[in-house]
Amino acid sequence: MSSQRRVLIDTDTASDDAVALIMALRSAEVDVKAITVAAGNVPVDQATSNALYTTELCGSNVPVFRGAAKPLLRTLQIADWFHGKDGLGDHGYAPASYKVEQEHAVSAIGRTIAANPGIEIITLGPLTNLAAAILQQPGIVDSVSRCVVMGGAPCCEGNVTPAAEFNIWVDPEAAHIVFQSGLPIEMVGWQLSRGAAAINHGDVARMLNLDTPFAEFAIRCNSSAEQAFYEQTGEKGICLPDPIAMAVLLQPKLCLESSEHHVKIETTSELTRGMTVVDRLGVAPDQRNRHIWSSSLASRKVRVCWRLDVAGWKAALMTALR
Ligand code: RIB
Ligand code: CA
Repeated sequence: MSSQRRVLIDTDTASDDAVALIMALRSAEVDVKAITVAAGNVPVDQATSNALYTTELCGSNVPVFRGAAKPLLRTLQIADWFHGKDGLGDHGYAPASYKVEQEHAVSAIGRTIAANPGIEIITLGPLTNLAAAILQQPGIVDSVSRCVVMGGAPCCEGNVTPAAEFNIWVDPEAAHIVFQSGLPIEMVGWQLSRGAAAINHGDVARMLNLDTPFAEFAIRCNSSAEQAFYEQTGEKGICLPDPIAMAVLLQPKLCLESSEHHVKIETTSELTRGMTVVDRLGVAPDQRNRHIWSSSLASRKVRVCWRLDVAGWKAALMTALR
């Protein structure tokens, strides 16, 4: 019986997702049971192709399942303005020889969780697939030991609107279902990937000095994202939110400070669509708030990560790319 931790990865595979996949697929700590793909950064067929390219690069036989082509209710809004049209910086990567599984990702999520009690889930894109799986099989939430969600902007600005982070904004209804489901969510927000956590020129040089196909791909496929990050924030470097979430999944101690809070997702206002409203001061049960937060008060709190071990994150990335 393997002592490895079993993991399911849901992704909208673009350039930062691909680096996160490499980290998991090349880790001796985890046994990745499935990679399920949803539309987000790019349309689902492109995201699936990118996931297959990455598994082939790693020589991995982890099955890849195509999932949702659009959010639960809304039209799809992609982020090719950030990651490039193909999601990998438009460098013309040849399609993988690996093939996608026939089973739909939503079915694969339910089956894989049921077959692997205690499994850890990490989501790197919109929560459409996971929400649909929960609607189909609500009981699966009891078989999940951790659900690390790359998403949200806890008490801070978003990256796609002033209020919201992309993964939650694309499908806020799905996020609402997942956040109220009772899953043990650990929220790794976009804010953790900025500033010193971004990959700077010295980090790039050290990564390229590894002289491996993984390091070369990780840098090159994020060329569009690096430019877009600078235009978006004025910050230099490569912003890698999904790999940071993966680092926290692999090494939970890299989250130096976290706390549990009720979190609600805005699904009606267009101004604050997809906002992750974190009850950081614990005022949700107050009389003036109770009617708004009643459904959340009955649900499990979310563990929000507030501070990252930046040096530890970058060391984990370097190890994965060796
Ligand atoms: O907001 C960052 C998130 O949105 C990352 O997962 C990135 O890949 C995009 O999906
Ligand atoms: Ca992603």
